[in-house]
Amino acid sequence: MENLLLFIIILFISFLIILYSNFHRRRRGSCSFTGHGKLPSGNLGWPVIGESLEFISSALTDRPESFMDKRRRLYGKVFKSHIFGTPFVVSTDAEVSKIVLQSDAKSFVPSYPKSLTELMGKSSILLINGGLQRRIHGLIGAFFKSNHLKAQITRDMQTYVRRSMENWKEDHPIFIQDETKNIAFQVLVKALISLDPGEEMEFLKKQFQGFISGLMSLPINIPGTQLYRSLQAKKKMGKLIQKIIQSKRDGIGGGSNLPKDVIDVLLMNNGSDQTLTDELIADNMIDMMIPGEDSVPVLMTLAVKYLSDCPAALKQLTEENMKLKEHKAQLGEPLTWSDYLSLPFTQTVITETLRMGNIIIGVMRKAMKDIEIKGYLIPKGWCFFAYFRSVHLDETNYDWPYQFNPWRWQEKDIISSCSFTPFGGGQRLCPGLDLARLEASIFLHHFVTQFRWVAEEDTVVNFPTVRMKRRMPIWVKRKEEN
Ligand code: HEM
Repeated sequence: MENLLLFIIILFISFLIILYSNFHRRRRGSCSFTGHGKLPSGNLGWPVIGESLEFISSALTDRPESFMDKRRRLYGKVFKSHIFGTPFVVSTDAEVSKIVLQSDAKSFVPSYPKSLTELMGKSSILLINGGLQRRIHGLIGAFFKSNHLKAQITRDMQTYVRRSMENWKEDHPIFIQDETKNIAFQVLVKALISLDPGEEMEFLKKQFQGFISGLMSLPINIPGTQLYRSLQAKKKMGKLIQKIIQSKRDGIGGGSNLPKDVIDVLLMNNGSDQTLTDELIADNMIDMMIPGEDSVPVLMTLAVKYLSDCPAALKQLTEENMKLKEHKAQLGEPLTWSDYLSLPFTQTVITETLRMGNIIIGVMRKAMKDIEIKGYLIPKGWCFFAYFRSVHLDETNYDWPYQFNPWRWQEKDIISSCSFTPFGGGQRLCPGLDLARLEASIFLHHFVTQFRWVAEEDTVVNFPTVRMKRRMPIWVKRKEEN
């Protein structure tokens, strides 16, 4: 209910701000129609509010895709709508979405609500375009794929998981969502800025909480508003990170040529004559903490939820992980990242969790010119919403799509399918996807090999972000062999 009220207020204020310009944009949209493609069918809803209220009321249910599915039945896989004060072309067609995601910034640029863009800052990788975005994306992607980082992350993750699980007691519930948030945040902060758990980490965590509270706030930046408080928290985090950057520039703690963290990667110029500013680096470090606090822990939490509801999958996953654990114990070797990723069934469990969970429901772009795709016109200035959730839950792509069935991936070619895009695609394909899978694999391994558990009743909430309503409380029992 609170969410609904907040969004109605956001809508109202946004509408007042954009009302005038919007009417003009709508007119221009139809005037610039060249006759080459056709504006998709659909309904722009009520004047000003469009179809936003229906969109939000669906988003608050356990079937948020019902808004899109209803229109898909009426108008086809690509249709027009009007949500959050903007005309949208919505695509539940995997091929059309793929073409848009592969387009460059001359055709489409990212488009986010105003409060989000203010908080991220203009140099965030999520907002910049062209050569600079490609350069930063490439550097980060290569670092997250490097063997050196994977080995380091595996060690760190094992340490943090062990520390967290050592404290689990059998006589009170463990909230999986909180535990995984704590672990994944520490792992990512270490990979980004080499900060170890301690006072500064606690300071960062506290400020970060203040920062993300503003991601879904009213776009008003004056003292007293949530957005203002969040920007202040971001400033404090920025200061700490700039101090770390400065000490790296001064050569303190250096010695090795191998980058230790993402800051090192961005500080190395790699042949480019354009140095990245400290502010740009700091802003991007903060933005990249968001998946550490949100997407990755949600992936782990949902995996625990789905496994709790599917004993056959849990049994097979546990057997696979126990076998690996025993084998490594016999050899007297520690587990490496390739050991974790070599477990085929565990990978199918993670893949199926990504499909069912839809942690990121879709991505948004804005058309920079009139564009025609598969006969559909996307007018200049309109937003495009690639809605992955409907594709992932479409029975023509997946039999019994609402059933958690990791075995389906033993037959399907997941790599080449454009019907499976939890990490987006094209120019902005998530550079953290290997890292997310690695973290989830390590967590699941230690969890299922050390504990049995009983989960309390809980439900998945999908709006404004995916999470568990009660933070996934479970009662654990340590296995005897530990
Ligand atoms: C389950 C976990 C994750 C999911 C579901 C996820 C999903 C996504 C998606 C869908 C996009 C595309 C956004 C767009 O096209 O506009 C994206 C981009 C991105 N992700 Fe992730 N992500 C996850 C984890 C991570 C991690 C661990 C990192 C590491 C820091 C990361 C860093 C990024 C960055 C930097 C981008 C922007 C890339 C660009 O615009 O060039 N993500 N992610």
